[in-house]
Amino acid sequence: MRLNQGGTLVPEATEPAVIEVSRRRSGFGPAPDVEAVRDGAGIVRVPTPFGPPAWLLTRHEDVRRMLGDTTVFSNGWTTADLVGGATRDPRHLSGDGSGNLLSMDPPEHNRLRRMLTPEFTVRRMRRMEPRITEIVDEHLDLLERHGSPADLVSQYALPIPSLVICELLGVPVADRDEFQERTREQLDLTVSDDDKVELGRAAQAYMTDLVERARRDPGDDLIGMMIREHDDELTNAELIGVANLLLVAGHETTSNMLGLGTLALLRHPDQLAAVRDDPESVPGAVEELMRWLSVVNSGSPRLATRDVELGGVTIRRGDLVSFNLPAANRDPGLVEDPERFDIARPAAPHLGFGHGIHHCLGAPLARMEMRIAFPALLRRFPTLRLADEEVAWAGDHAIYGLKELPVTW
Ligand code: HEM
Repeated sequence: MRLNQGGTLVPEATEPAVIEVSRRRSGFGPAPDVEAVRDGAGIVRVPTPFGPPAWLLTRHEDVRRMLGDTTVFSNGWTTADLVGGATRDPRHLSGDGSGNLLSMDPPEHNRLRRMLTPEFTVRRMRRMEPRITEIVDEHLDLLERHGSPADLVSQYALPIPSLVICELLGVPVADRDEFQERTREQLDLTVSDDDKVELGRAAQAYMTDLVERARRDPGDDLIGMMIREHDDELTNAELIGVANLLLVAGHETTSNMLGLGTLALLRHPDQLAAVRDDPESVPGAVEELMRWLSVVNSGSPRLATRDVELGGVTIRRGDLVSFNLPAANRDPGLVEDPERFDIARPAAPHLGFGHGIHHCLGAPLARMEMRIAFPALLRRFPTLRLADEEVAWAGDHAIYGLKELPVTW
């Protein structure tokens, strides 16, 4: 069944086949099944765990075109808009969804994004740089005191981005241990789903409290700034939603880049040496790690608002459209020899931070964290190596990474 242009359901003679494609990754590259789709049909229909099937885009050109065209591909849908209905909204965020840029279209999206953008400018980031360097150095000291071997994921990759978000949001120092413990548990695979719902509620309650305190006494942080400059334009629910979005979008992503990126460098000693010894190589290395690792498997699914031709198929109004960034970032159409990890290659317009109006708001911050944290680690521990060649990939996570990374020095 499909929606016709008049908005009624009509039967269709030739529904495109729905094919099961495993998106499970192990290793640095895309899931093998997704790679096979990219090198074959390019676009297929896949089942989704929440209801109707979705188109899966895998080629760089198709993904870029889709993400760039918000007049056809909408983020502002609800489960009621899906043909055949849905069991739940896959874009899980706590609260009522207020403040979630990823479920908004223009003009609402522009309105909120415009208020947040000044907090992520290069100038603002420069102001955060000394504090990020301090956080990184503190964790290097802790690692040194802990001694070798150590787990780089729990002791370096996870806490640094979490503390940077505390800094950004203005989480008081006294609350940070608890805040970190909660976000750590939320990412812990051994914590049950029921307990995670509870943790989600606790996080929501904390953010609510944080926003209320900031309303009484706005600080020099993102929430304080939003209150000072845009008080009359923002509801409390929106502010709480924004704080949650920044935490959810900015923590696991950056953490997984730090963990997986360190492993990638350890497996390429020449390039590791360049990152350690040549500061000029670092920005290029971070971009190549973003392309080659693509820790975000897929962003928010879009909904087609009218029939459209893409990648050789007709996507119909009401169809869900998802995309695979690891496959798109290793598309031979994007760079030469895409499987090769090469930090010296010319900058490629990779999609690791997305594209178009929903391009990662936190990209300048994430880039700065990575540009500080990789070389600092390699300089402090010049003999850093794996304690165990066997690697614990988190292949079943929405955000790809490592469960742990035992290292010695
Ligand atoms: C959006 C990746 C770090 C905040 C996105 C998107 C991607 C992405 C792919 C687009 C999703 C889509 O179009 O469906 C990453 C990666 C990161 C990272 C790989 C780390 C290396 C951060 C940080 C923050 C952040 C540190 C903030 C503290 C956001 C927000 C959006 C977003 C708010 C939604 C923007 C919008 O809809 O307008 N990110 N991100 N991200 N990211 Fe990031």
